[in-house]
Order: sequence, then structure tokens, then C-alpha cells
Amino acid sequence: MSQIVEVNHPLIQHKLAIIRDKNTGSKEFREVVEEIAMLLAYEVTRNISTEEVEVQTPMCTAKCRMLSGKKLAIVPILRAGLGMVEGMRKLVPAAKVGHIGLYRDEETLQPVEYFCKLPTDISERDIIVVDPMLATGGSCVDAISMLKKRGASSIRFVGLIAAPEGIQALQKAHPDVDIYVAHIDDRLNEKGYILPGLGDAGDRLFGTK
Ligand code: PRP
Ligand code: URA
Repeated sequence: MSQIVEVNHPLIQHKLAIIRDKNTGSKEFREVVEEIAMLLAYEVTRNISTEEVEVQTPMCTAKCRMLSGKKLAIVPILRAGLGMVEGMRKLVPAAKVGHIGLYRDEETLQPVEYFCKLPTDISERDIIVVDPMLATGGSCVDAISMLKKRGASSIRFVGLIAAPEGIQALQKAHPDVDIYVAHIDDRLNEKGYILPGLGDAGDRLFGTK
């Protein structure tokens, strides 16, 4: 069964309070989402492999460690996942970025696929799927199925806020995918929105409502 990591760092808690606030405007919302993504990148990359290298310091030779092994790919679920990409890339600039376009049908809450563009070597990469909101879990479950269909096998999910329902659905569909989130909230409302949540992440990032 997958691992669920709720990253309860005080900096993350503080920044989450800012983005939950309905009076936080789009500019600050975007900036703080990016900062939280950077902090989550630190946690999700905790176990990636390193190798010993020798570096010449101004004084002598030092044995150091640098990243090795499989390369990373960050895959945002459009649109809202885009808000997390730059924060992650600040820490892992060599990561390639793939894009998966899905939106939830407002009536059925089912995800509808409209775009998929991935690095050609996606099956060889460690993949981090990013989306601020894991609500019913439908979008994330489908995005990961799309990745697996294209050969991906090493996948982690990173989000900001999850509903227990979304975590359960994701674990059931993809028990091999570890889940990293800043907070697990109470529940979904009748329209599939997370409570207390932060509202519609895409609209708040891009100012579309
Ligand atoms: C939001 C969010 C997730 C999805 C979560 O996207 O960014 O992708 O809903 O809901 P689920 O877990 O119930 O599938 P939305 O469909 O609003 O599209 P957008 O990012 O383009 O606004
Ligand atoms: N998508 C969002 O953007 N917010 C929610 O609360 C649920 C789905």
C-alpha cells in the first residue's frame, strides 16, 4: 500500500492559511502556491538516489554527494497544477515537464481529458504528478492511468490539500503511488469541493472568476 505523507511543517501551515483566505488576491495566491510547492519538493525528493563525487574546494579535494540514477519528470494536471511547477523546478531544475489536461465536468464530477504531452523518455523517469487539489480523486486517478498507459512505473503525487475521499480513491486505484500533501481536510461538499479547502484552485491562480 502507498505511503501518505502530510507535511506538517510550520512554514507550510502558515502559507496554507494565506492561500485559504478568501481575501488573498491572485498574485499573492500564485506566489504562495509556488513557495509551498518548493517546500513539498524538498520532502518528496528526500529518498532520491545520490552518488559520491569528488569536488575540488579552494582548500583540497572533498568527497561529496550529487543526484544520480533516474531522472525526474514533473507532470502538472492542467490548469491548477501549473501553479506548482516553478516552485518544484527551483529545487530540481534538470527535471523535464510533461502536461496532462483534464477538467472536471461540473455535473458528473468526472474528469474529461483534453491534452497530453510528455517527455519522450517518460517511461524511464521518476515522475512527480502535481495538482493543488485532490478532491474526489478522479482527475488524479485518470492522469496516473494515462501515464501508466505510456509506460511510466515510478510515480508520486504531490498536492496542497486533499479530501479523505480523494486519498482513498487514489490509494485504491494506484496503490503503488505515494501521496504527499500539505494538509488532509475534513470532507467534500455536495458539489465535490473540499471543506474547508480554498475554493477553486484554477480560478484563484488564474483570476478566472
Ligand atoms: C481541479 C483541481 C483538480 C481537480 C480535483 O481542477 O485542480 O485537477 O479539480 O478534483 P477531483 O479530485 O474531484 O478530480 P478543475 O477540474 O477545476 O480544472 P482547472 O484546474 O482547469 O480549473
Ligand atoms: N477542485 C478545486 O479547485 N477545489 C476543490 O475544492 C475541489 C476541486
